[in-house]
Amino acid sequence: MKKTIAVLFGGQSGEHEVSLVSAQAVIAALDPEKYQVLPVGITKDGRWLTGSGAMPALLAAADPALLPAGSAAGAHALEEQQNEVDAPTSHGDMDLPTVARILPPGVDVVFPVLHGPMGEDGTVQGLLELAGVAYVGCGVAASAVGMDKALMKAAFAAAGLPLLPWLLVRRADWQRDPEATYTAVESTLHYPVFVKPANMGSSVGVGKAKDRDGLKYAIADAARYDRRIVIEQGIPAREIEISVLGNETPEASVPGEIVPSGEWYDYHAKYIHGQSAIHIPAPIDAALADSVRALATRAFLAIDGAGLARVDFLLDKETSELWINEANTMPGFTPISMYAKMWAASGLRYPDLLDRLILLALERKGS
Ligand SMILES: Nc1ncnc2c1ncn2[C@@H]1O[C@H](COP(=O)(O)OP(=O)(O)O)[C@@H](O)[C@H]1O
Ligand SMILES: [Mg+2]
Repeated sequence: MKKTIAVLFGGQSGEHEVSLVSAQAVIAALDPEKYQVLPVGITKDGRWLTGSGAMPALLAAADPALLPAGSAAGAHALEEQQNEVDAPTSHGDMDLPTVARILPPGVDVVFPVLHGPMGEDGTVQGLLELAGVAYVGCGVAASAVGMDKALMKAAFAAAGLPLLPWLLVRRADWQRDPEATYTAVESTLHYPVFVKPANMGSSVGVGKAKDRDGLKYAIADAARYDRRIVIEQGIPAREIEISVLGNETPEASVPGEIVPSGEWYDYHAKYIHGQSAIHIPAPIDAALADSVRALATRAFLAIDGAGLARVDFLLDKETSELWINEANTMPGFTPISMYAKMWAASGLRYPDLLDRLILLALERKGS
């Protein structure tokens, strides 16, 4: 019996286009012998479209500047896809009970290939819990904690994981008394510091401040995106990432390293210039790689992860100290994304990775 996999893509976050690219890769790689696919697209304004017309509709409405090269070819490959369920494309505004019913009773597993707020943050996961269906990846709490840098740090700190010194600034407090905020930052940290909206991704709103003026500017910028702002000790860092997979006994891949094209891995380096170098495995010694693996699985358990997460570290170039930066509960998911590449380098091919994730989803649901 083939399993029916509903693949969710698009969504209302700034990472809508990234999701389309990830989802096309997932749909193309799901083995047609084992699975049939129900495409489910979520438009930027939150409408749900189902059936084979969903991906073409979302691609047509996507911002071409944000679609990485190659996705047009992906769209073409999709037309030839044989494993899709032929459901009619439906449009329209739907209230929550309708959305919860959108998934036909025959769906075995939902794969929410959604990045960022309103997709990776526990909201869609809550909907899927209400719908009573198995789904790939982290549950409500882990997704929500993984999306909020302040809550994530609190969970990591409680688990004794190595965190750079940081403080939380509430926008309302900063607006009421900016000087007190600057003084608090300067008495806890030294420049440079990194300023981050608690609830974003893709380096949006993240700034590096080298002095008081830079701090003022970076806080004002981050405050455009969130009510809560994380300010963190900046270090000269190498960026080490690792993929985690599993439920109760998560496993970690070989670690990888990203060498950003700019001074740090900002939005520009991630998506515009795209010349950041990737090294898999990361050129670090075996003992350090073991610590990265051990810390990554502890981080996964600390947020009560399930299915998958990519855990990112900062390695101080001067002191060689290793700090945990963040866990991403739905990292970029094409075969050339870090998450999949680190598994491929560890001996797990992309289609097999998808099989594992689907099994983990069913296992977690208890079916
Ligand atoms: N404390 C820090 N010291 C040095 N570089 C940092 C620090 N925090 C973040 N960065 C740089 O900023 C980038 C984005 O920060 P990150 O916390 O990963 O935000 P996002 O969730 O948007 O990816 C990192 O990849 C790294 O290049
Ligand atoms: Mg990051």
